[in-house]
Amino acid sequence: MRAVDQELAKVEDLLGDVRSLPTLPELISKLNRLLSDPEAKIQEVAELVLKDQVLTAHVIRLANSSFFAKHREITNLREAIVFLGFRALRNLVLTTTLIGTFRWKNKTINPRRFWEHSFAVGVVSSDIASRLHYRDVDNAYLAGLVHDLGIVLISQYLPDAMDRILALLEAQKTSLQYAEKRVLGLDHTAFGGWLAGKWNFSPELRDVMLWHHEPNSDTADPELASIVSLADMFCRSISLGYGVPEYWSTVVQVHPAWRILQSRQHEMRAVDWERFLFDLSARAEEVRQLVKTVFEMDRTGTPA
Ligand SMILES: [Fe+2]
Ligand SMILES: [Fe+2]
Repeated sequence: MRAVDQELAKVEDLLGDVRSLPTLPELISKLNRLLSDPEAKIQEVAELVLKDQVLTAHVIRLANSSFFAKHREITNLREAIVFLGFRALRNLVLTTTLIGTFRWKNKTINPRRFWEHSFAVGVVSSDIASRLHYRDVDNAYLAGLVHDLGIVLISQYLPDAMDRILALLEAQKTSLQYAEKRVLGLDHTAFGGWLAGKWNFSPELRDVMLWHHEPNSDTADPELASIVSLADMFCRSISLGYGVPEYWSTVVQVHPAWRILQSRQHEMRAVDWERFLFDLSARAEEVRQLVKTVFEMDRTGTPA
């Protein structure tokens, strides 16, 4: 069992003084509150999002992207909300805002590849969650989206350490986590858990960030951690990884995540997993396109 408190204290030593650490945008908490209200009206949501013109432009452009196979062009926010629905809108706003919050410049980990991985794990997590009748599909998307944010913290604030990590990974043909531990004494899950604390994430989200590589450890919601873990493995197996070389292989069926999810035996058996992976590979290009679209938009929300 990891001594998490000690790990978090060590992250605090490394990053506690960083002044430019982003804060969770207020819009996200406001939007979350509004959309969890079953009485929320389109007008209220539109008014909140319209306060940010760049975001509005992003949402409209994304609603028109190939990822959301649309039938006709969406020209304004109201249409986008009607077309996407509140939940998809919230996820889109969260995704765009997070990508905008973290755009680091160093060459170590390519931000676009990182967000392709995160977005893909979000989409796949919510897909697995709905097939297994997990109670909160939206939370599964969010958990997948944020699970690896610890990697961003290392890349953005400890770039020299990240250079050493990647050099070690390459020299020893090892895993990213192993190399992180060798260089920093900690891996990205500790950094993620620390950020979750700073941003007041729910215990479930925090634990996904801390335990997505070991969901059999003591987590607030082992099923959620397992869903994200499985989605992470699937995405990495179809080249939607972090963009660093991967020298790992695993038999999914003996992974703790798989075993934990067997508690939903009935639902697990009902999924044709081979077909699932096949369909996922077919959607990989759509995921890349969506992230590309976000990256191509400049700060005014128009294509760069
Ligand atoms: Fe990870
Ligand atoms: Fe991951």
